[in-house]
Amino acid sequence: MQVFQLKIVNFPFNNLLDMKTHATYSTEEINPLGSIEEWEDDVLERYPEPGQPAKKKEEFRNYDNPQRDTVREFYRLNHKYQTYDFVQEKKNEFLQFNRKEMPVWNAMEFLNTLVDDSDPDIDLDQLQHLLQTAEAIRADGHPDWFVLTGFIHDMGKVLCLFGEPQWAVVGDTFPVGCRFSDKVVYSEFFELNPDNSDERYNTKYGVYEHGCGLDKVHMSWGHDEYLYHITKDYLPEPALYMIRYHSFYAEHREQAYDHLMNDNDRKMFDWVRKFNPYDLYSKSPKPPVVSELKHYYEDLIAKYLPATIKL
Ligand SMILES: [Fe+2]
Ligand SMILES: [Fe+2]
Repeated sequence: MQVFQLKIVNFPFNNLLDMKTHATYSTEEINPLGSIEEWEDDVLERYPEPGQPAKKKEEFRNYDNPQRDTVREFYRLNHKYQTYDFVQEKKNEFLQFNRKEMPVWNAMEFLNTLVDDSDPDIDLDQLQHLLQTAEAIRADGHPDWFVLTGFIHDMGKVLCLFGEPQWAVVGDTFPVGCRFSDKVVYSEFFELNPDNSDERYNTKYGVYEHGCGLDKVHMSWGHDEYLYHITKDYLPEPALYMIRYHSFYAEHREQAYDHLMNDNDRKMFDWVRKFNPYDLYSKSPKPPVVSELKHYYEDLIAKYLPATIKL
């Protein structure tokens, strides 16, 4: 079996005290994917660009495909461990923002120390994905806060650099505290989640009420929710929805949780849907040149965000 590892290079902020160890999870359970991009590659197969041929379901679930097996294992762990209590624990742990403080641009460079050992030549690094997303938004003439949102939307993936398991950083997100929808990818694995047999959490509404609004709903923990809390005082509401719900495919693609949403959520999800194609389909053949774009993005950061942010 091939062993994949994420390695950290050029890590100027390295502080071993920051690296949490997870005694409760084995190494395989922390990093089931060769790289966190495997999740996004998989999303792209699930939601191909309009005009591209969609894969047949049998073809999509080809269990002989080694990458598909790791994605499947990734979702098995994600659906097993993302419970209501797990989300509260992670919020208590990470929303204290007591790990690092640095300028946004440095945080992006910090994120970029997350590299994929298994496939170094093929995948774009994190910064290139973010620049391509943002540049595609800019090219379409959208407002500058929308461009900035494209640029920072995955910054929360720094959670990986704090030693967090991949399934607690990336992956489709979904509400916890109420019944899991069968429209969430690999929903069969929710059988392994203790909340699935807990009557506080396994009814249609669980701990929530009809139309209560997503702000009252706890989402599975990952880079979306984390970055939302970092940016919530600084960006316009549509930007915050894009950041917070961009991996909530069960809603923005499948409308599986309409019963929890209020009118404002429905209005704001137009923005989430507007953002999603830039995230998924903006890979251009020519990688962006960071040095040519840095000045523009630093100005944009300075316009909306504080001089330093706390992680
Ligand atoms: Fe993302
Ligand atoms: Fe992204």
